[in-house]
Amino acid sequence: MKICVVGTGYVGLVTCACFADLGNEVIGVDVDQAKIKKLQQGSIPIYEPGLKELIDHNLHKRLTFTTDLKQGVEQSEFIFIAVGTPQAEGGEADLSAVKQVAAGIGEHLNGSKIVVDKSTVPVGMGDLVASIIEEHGGLEHKVDVVSNPEFLREGSAVHDFMHPDRVLIGTNDGVAAERVSELYKPLEAEIMVTDLRSAEMIKYASNAFLATKITFINEIANLCEKVDADVIKVAHGMGMDSRIGPAFLNAGAGYGGSCFPKDVSALIQKAKKEGYDFKVLNAVVEANAYQKRSMLARIKDVLGPLEGKQIAALGLSFKPDTDDLREAVAVEVIRLLQENGARVRVYDPAALEHAEKELPGVKLADDAYTAVAGAHCLVIFTEWNEFKEMDLQRVKSLMKTPVIVDGRNIYDPQKTKALGFTYQGVGRK
Ligand SMILES: NC(=O)c1ccc[n+]([C@@H]2O[C@H](COP(=O)([O-])OP(=O)(O)OC[C@H]3O[C@@H](n4cnc5c(N)ncnc54)[C@H](O)[C@@H]3O)[C@@H](O)[C@H]2O)c1
Repeated sequence: MKICVVGTGYVGLVTCACFADLGNEVIGVDVDQAKIKKLQQGSIPIYEPGLKELIDHNLHKRLTFTTDLKQGVEQSEFIFIAVGTPQAEGGEADLSAVKQVAAGIGEHLNGSKIVVDKSTVPVGMGDLVASIIEEHGGLEHKVDVVSNPEFLREGSAVHDFMHPDRVLIGTNDGVAAERVSELYKPLEAEIMVTDLRSAEMIKYASNAFLATKITFINEIANLCEKVDADVIKVAHGMGMDSRIGPAFLNAGAGYGGSCFPKDVSALIQKAKKEGYDFKVLNAVVEANAYQKRSMLARIKDVLGPLEGKQIAALGLSFKPDTDDLREAVAVEVIRLLQENGARVRVYDPAALEHAEKELPGVKLADDAYTAVAGAHCLVIFTEWNEFKEMDLQRVKSLMKTPVIVDGRNIYDPQKTKALGFTYQGVGRK
């Protein structure tokens, strides 16, 4: 089938590559000329495991890239919208890119199309997209607007796209639902068809729930520290309950990333607009902000005043296996460390390229051992596998003082203590 994907970021590019690999003819469109030029040359602008291989395999055969929306619209039956919906100043979702794309689609329509919204948008946006397309000349042709929220996770995006827990298709039109379902049939995944607005709500409700689950276990962890319990064991025991499940019960330094913070905020704002005060989510935002800041307190607890201290920060990205620094806890806490007079040297396997811009004044290390050399404290911000497997004897011999603040609980407190470290995790004495 002929597919246009507008927006070639983390979601759009994975969508392009996977649909092309499934045998469709895909054209990726983006306003970012430099990005499109790179993609046309086979260079991938983001770090995402498995993505380069898929693009290499399909580029210039079933997969092309352009900045020309007209070309994409005219050549395709399906037009996926996968542009960013970042947080606006008031906390709501900034929908300007989606609106701009909708207007462009309306202007360039040359036949009936199915417009599939993959961007995360507040309830009602699908209807607005339909009316924008109509206003911009789309009246002559039949256009169905379908919501198809994306649930992939950065770091395992290709796998998640190809093996989704469910494919969600939101539309009030049975034929459009059938057509979009056909695109996903090769995945053999469970397909749920619902009305447009419920689909839009399912995406926000899912992300808000996951953010709440993380925040809940973080608060349990904080209490564990006070009562001398171990949150790892507590979470394990909770997760064995089939009503709760083990996922998203890893206590740590708080959630960040390109989705949870902005989506929780957008849902709160949407509720407010509808005259509803979403009390739980307000508390989640407050508790998560506290959790991030508490990393500074944990470091001060073990190190005392930070003036002149050298900190080794391992991990910058908001989660492992991605280079995405949006709302990363590490970035926020490292800035606080710098404000408190500490010198910070960072290492991240994929995200260092963006570090200089985000964190002026930090020193970059080529590997984890270089980062810890001469440090008074090692802070784990992201649970990359290579940090889990470090030779802690060697780490200790390189550090000025053997102190670990483990914001992701990747080390065993007993083992690190036996090696002579002062160890501070989250929710574990
Ligand atoms: N990143 C994730 O893990 C994830 C997961 C699920 C859903 N989502 C949602 O998917 C959407 C995209 O997220 P992302 O992380 O891929 O964003 P991103 O910032 O990585 O990519 C967005 C892309 O859209 C392009 N763009 C912006 N305006 C455009 C326009 N008018 N025309 C063409 N291209 C335009 C940008 O240049 C950029 O390349 C968001 O709504 C997000 O909430 C993201």
